[in-house]
Amino acid sequence: MAVRTTSALITGGNKGLGLEAARRLGELGWTIFLGSRDEGRGREAAGKLAAGGARVVLVPLDVTSEESVAAAVTLVREHTDRLDVLINNAGASGRGVPPANATAEEIHAVYDTNVYGPVRVTHAFLPLLREAECPRVVMVSSGAGSFAVITDPDQPSASMHELAYASSKAALNMLTVRYAQALPEIKFNAITPGEVVNRTYAATDMNHHTGTLTVTEGTDSIVRLATIGADGPTGTFSDRLGPISW
Ligand SMILES: NC(=O)c1ccc[n+]([C@@H]2O[C@H](COP(=O)([O-])OP(=O)(O)OC[C@H]3O[C@@H](n4cnc5c(N)ncnc54)[C@H](OP(=O)(O)O)[C@@H]3O)[C@@H](O)[C@H]2O)c1
Repeated sequence: MAVRTTSALITGGNKGLGLEAARRLGELGWTIFLGSRDEGRGREAAGKLAAGGARVVLVPLDVTSEESVAAAVTLVREHTDRLDVLINNAGASGRGVPPANATAEEIHAVYDTNVYGPVRVTHAFLPLLREAECPRVVMVSSGAGSFAVITDPDQPSASMHELAYASSKAALNMLTVRYAQALPEIKFNAITPGEVVNRTYAATDMNHHTGTLTVTEGTDSIVRLATIGADGPTGTFSDRLGPISW
């Protein structure tokens, strides 16, 4: 199949925000390469999207594995010679270990998904992105990755004492800026699914569905940055209400 529509690869697309972003972009008529580290869960999700009319290709993809990422590139290349949009969405929350007890091993596991994962996937898909007319990369970060948020005592994350997750998302934010500066031909933007000013986030498995925003609301910023044109921004950080502080 030669893909003629806009195409997007979404990591961690089998559930939560990734799946909802896939559904919404699929509704636009895009071809969705649905990344899922578990093939069974991915097939189920892809089946639901296809039943809703989406053009979807399941891509087995564990962002912590070089081999898996390489195999994903090979598979996507069987369908298209360019990729318009990459959404680095797959994320791990870690176990919320307090700083005094956090080990390098625990942090490494979170970084492997949240930091090295987006680097692995972005690096591997750069050649396909470069073939697109207006390539875009959306980094799904978090308000917890913002120094402004974490140092604001009124923000709940300020008093959630853990090291791995917040620091991994801060690193992801810096990666976004560094990619954007070095590769102006590709738009790199970081988003958080929540509303920072209202201290809200989207209900998903990651937060045991304690969020007050729906996954549709949570994906507003993802969809907005995935659908920007040539005049769109790069190197920004925003939530569904607009730009936010780093
Ligand atoms: N919910 C919010 O309001 C919120 C707020 C801030 C940031 N975020 C960020 O949003 C992104 C999506 O999270 P979510 O809320 O939708 O949580 P979720 O429902 O738990 O989804 C997480 C997704 O990431 C996948 N994943 C985890 N490790 C992976 C790996 N090594 N390789 C490939 N996929 C992997 C999961 O796959 P499995 O199903 O196989 O586990 C799942 O598809 C994350 O980056 C998260 O940090 C969410």
